[in-house]
Amino acid sequence: MQPVIVIAHRGASGERPEHTLESYRLAIDEGADYIEPDLVMTRDGVLIARHENEIGGTTDVAAHPEFARRRRTQVIDGESMTGWFTEDFTLAEIRSLRARERLPELRPKNVAFDGRFIVPTFDEIMQLAVAANERRGPAARIGVYPETKHPAHFTRIGLPLEAPLLEALARHGYAAKSSPVFIQSFDPANLKLLRGITDLPLVQLRENQLGSLAETAQYADAIGIDKALAGADCVREAHALKLKVHAWTFRAENAFLPADLRRGDSQTDHGDLAGEINRYLSRGIDGFFTDFPAVGVRVRDAFTRA
Ligand code: G3P
Ligand code: CA
Repeated sequence: MQPVIVIAHRGASGERPEHTLESYRLAIDEGADYIEPDLVMTRDGVLIARHENEIGGTTDVAAHPEFARRRRTQVIDGESMTGWFTEDFTLAEIRSLRARERLPELRPKNVAFDGRFIVPTFDEIMQLAVAANERRGPAARIGVYPETKHPAHFTRIGLPLEAPLLEALARHGYAAKSSPVFIQSFDPANLKLLRGITDLPLVQLRENQLGSLAETAQYADAIGIDKALAGADCVREAHALKLKVHAWTFRAENAFLPADLRRGDSQTDHGDLAGEINRYLSRGIDGFFTDFPAVGVRVRDAFTRA
């Protein structure tokens, strides 16, 4: 049986601002099996790591008067969004920004890092992985779990994500089918397109409904699902179709834990994250996304030993 994988969600994002090299580096040091960059594109066609193409919430762009006129409203995937969008900035301009903590109220310690870290390119993340592999050796290569964000939107504006993503993986030695890679998307059309151009494992993300797993199994190798969907029956059905099950997102703060696992009165206090992860490991999941990879690795290792 393959061991359950620990996926560092946006890096070690419980301890560093998400999607920064420092967040990914800490995740690797903590023993995560995979690091998880969400990917969007700059105006000059460079893949960078952000959870969405609107960067007002996770960078200091609002404090840059030279970019004030770039603020605008547009509809993305059917939703009206206002802010600053990566496709309006060159990489050189993105370089002048610094990352900020997304959840300052819940993660006040991370706020101390605001203004210190750049927004990394996917290439830089891959370089970090390759450097880590030199220390870890070929049997323990760090895995990469990239997500295409708003792929239809980026295709529509002439900045498709797919070829640059596959080229970057190949450039850094992650092209073979056996490479430790999972490419994830919420967009089935995007995964079907990718299925036609790569043998790398693909993950269908689902948030509110599982949809037809039999259909998903036609083009994907795994489902990446909101933990609310990850019951034992779902895991059994997926496994019967040879789909792996990866669940998200496991976070230590009380704000994200079920009532019986919260500890203390504050939303920011850490509750029994280990207890929550163990519940899902017992259901037979094959991997999980966590903002706290050190906890994830410790719990997974203890579960495996037992
Ligand atoms: O990618 C899986 C998990 O991360 C859920 O998506 O990007 O909204 O955090 P996201
Ligand atoms: Ca993601």
